[in-house]
Amino acid sequence: MYNKPMIPPERLKKGPTISFWKLFLIFVITLAIFAGMILIFLANTSKPTVNVKPITDIQIASLMKDDEVMQNGHVQFQLRCARCHGTNLDGGLEGPSLVDDTTLYGESFESLHRVITLGVPVNGMPSWGNQLLEEDLQALTIYIIKMKAFTKTQSKR
Ligand code: HEC
Repeated sequence: MYNKPMIPPERLKKGPTISFWKLFLIFVITLAIFAGMILIFLANTSKPTVNVKPITDIQIASLMKDDEVMQNGHVQFQLRCARCHGTNLDGGLEGPSLVDDTTLYGESFESLHRVITLGVPVNGMPSWGNQLLEEDLQALTIYIIKMKAFTKTQSKR
């Protein structure tokens, strides 16, 4: 025998209703999915990827002695960076000095390379990762390291 379950008459009339909390849950999940998609979109498009190949101090030192690399760094810098950071890298225009004792983002190869590649667009530092070859980014980074060391020895005299 099939026993019909007892349903209170006031509930029978209502039909299928979605409760407020179910709707709320669906809303929150939809929102989360959209937020996730937007984040993935931003991560993939707006930022050039940082492609810092591990580089040893010995490699940096030998690139610093490589006239061709340093000449490239110099030319790139005067062409693209000097208008903000000054022809002697000592800032004073739109960008800060790159050869003084203060640094905003660090002075290691990795941190310099990262700032140059990604920029700080909100503060007026353009990102160069999409415009320059890795070779040029590296030359610029090492050029800055060299100029900073050079400026330090100059000021000690
Ligand atoms: C339109 C002006 C502008 C140009 C062009 C520009 N920069 Fe900058 N740069 C800035 C500004 C402004 C900052 C400071 C960002 C901040 O305050 O967060 C900065 C910061 C930096 C820093 C970090 C300094 C620190 O103290 O940590 C480095 C390194 C740097 N720039 C390198 C370069 C190089 C290399 C180029 C050329 C390929 C370049 N910049 C071109 C405006 C510029």
